[in-house]
Amino acid sequence: MIILGIESSCDETSIGILKDGVLLANEIASQHDIHSLYGGVVPELASRAHVECIDRLFLSALDTGGITAEEIDYIGVTTHPGLKGALLAGTAFAYGLGLRLDIPVYPVNHLFAHIAVNFLDRDVDLPGLGLVISGGHTTLFYVKSPVEFKVVGRTLDDACGETFDKVGRMLGLPFPGGPHIEKTAREGNPDSIRFPVPLLSKNSLDFSFSGLKTALRYHIESSRPSDKPDICASFQKTVGMILIEKASRAIDRYPVKSFFLGGGVVQNSYLRSEFEKLADRRRINLHIPDKRLCLDNGAMAAVMAQFLISRGKKPTSRRIEVL
Ligand code: KG4
Ligand code: ZN
Repeated sequence: MIILGIESSCDETSIGILKDGVLLANEIASQHDIHSLYGGVVPELASRAHVECIDRLFLSALDTGGITAEEIDYIGVTTHPGLKGALLAGTAFAYGLGLRLDIPVYPVNHLFAHIAVNFLDRDVDLPGLGLVISGGHTTLFYVKSPVEFKVVGRTLDDACGETFDKVGRMLGLPFPGGPHIEKTAREGNPDSIRFPVPLLSKNSLDFSFSGLKTALRYHIESSRPSDKPDICASFQKTVGMILIEKASRAIDRYPVKSFFLGGGVVQNSYLRSEFEKLADRRRINLHIPDKRLCLDNGAMAAVMAQFLISRGKKPTSRRIEVL
C-alpha cells in the first residue's frame, strides 16, 4: 500500500511517500527565505510559494521513492488547521491528483499528524498524552487511539513557537527566531535572569505565553547587545519550566504510559532534554520524532492517513474541503 502525504498548512511545502509503513521519501521546501524579509509568515506569499513548488516536489518525491504516480493507492492531505490559502494550494493539488489517478483522498488534521508521526516505526502504548508545540499551536491531547484525540489543554494566547519568533524579532535575530534563540542561548547563563513563569490556575493544563513575552519586551528595552545570550538562555529555560510543569500536571491527571511530542519547537535540543528528564522522573515512555519529522512535513500526513485508512474512516467526497 503506497500513501502520498501532502502538507502545505503554513510555510513548508512537503510531499512524503509511505510504502507499507516504510518512509520512502519526505521532500520539504521551506519558505523561510521569503518570510524572513518581513519577520513573520506572510499568508499570501506562502500560498503562492506552495503553488510554485508543489509539482516539482511531487516529481522529486516520486524520484526519491523510486515509484511512479500510478503506483500510489491513497492520498493524505492536510486540510486543517492552517492558513486557508496555503491549505488550498495543497488540497487543490491533492484533489486534482486524486481525480487523475482515481484514488481516495483522506483529509488530515495537521496537529494529529504531528503526534501520529511518532507511530511511524515503533509500537506505542496507548492511551497516551501528546503535546504539539509549534509556531501556530501549543496543544495538549489525550490520545486514546491513533485516530482519537481529545484536547485537554491549549494556549490561551500566543503559541510557544510564536513566542520564540516574537522574542527573536525583539532581539534582532533572523526569522524564525526559535533556532536562533537556541543557538544564542548556548553562550548564555540560563540562571542569570528570572522571568515570570505563567502557569494560570493551580490545576490548569492550558498555556499562556503573552505575559512572558511582555516581560521579555521590557527587559530587552533596557538591555545591552552583549546581554543577548543570557536573555536567550533564561527565556528558553522559562519556556521549558512552563512546558514541563504542564506536562507533569497532565501525567498526574491521566495515568498513561506514553507521552508524545510533535511540532517545530520540538527541534529544540534543550527542551528535548528537559522532557527526557521528566520522562525518567515520571517513568513514562517518551516519544520524540527525529528533528526533520518535527517540522511540517508530508510524511506525517501520510502516516495519519494510514491510520484513517486502517481504521475504516471514510475518504472525502471529491469536494475541496478546507475546514
Ligand atoms: O511545526 P512548525 O514547523 O510550523 C507550524 O505548524 O507552526 O513550527 C515552526 C515553529 C517556529 O515558531 C520556529 O521558531 C519553531 O518552530 N522552532 C524552534 C526551533 N526550531 C523551530 N523553536 C525553538 N527552538 C528551535 N530549535
Ligand atoms: Zn506544524
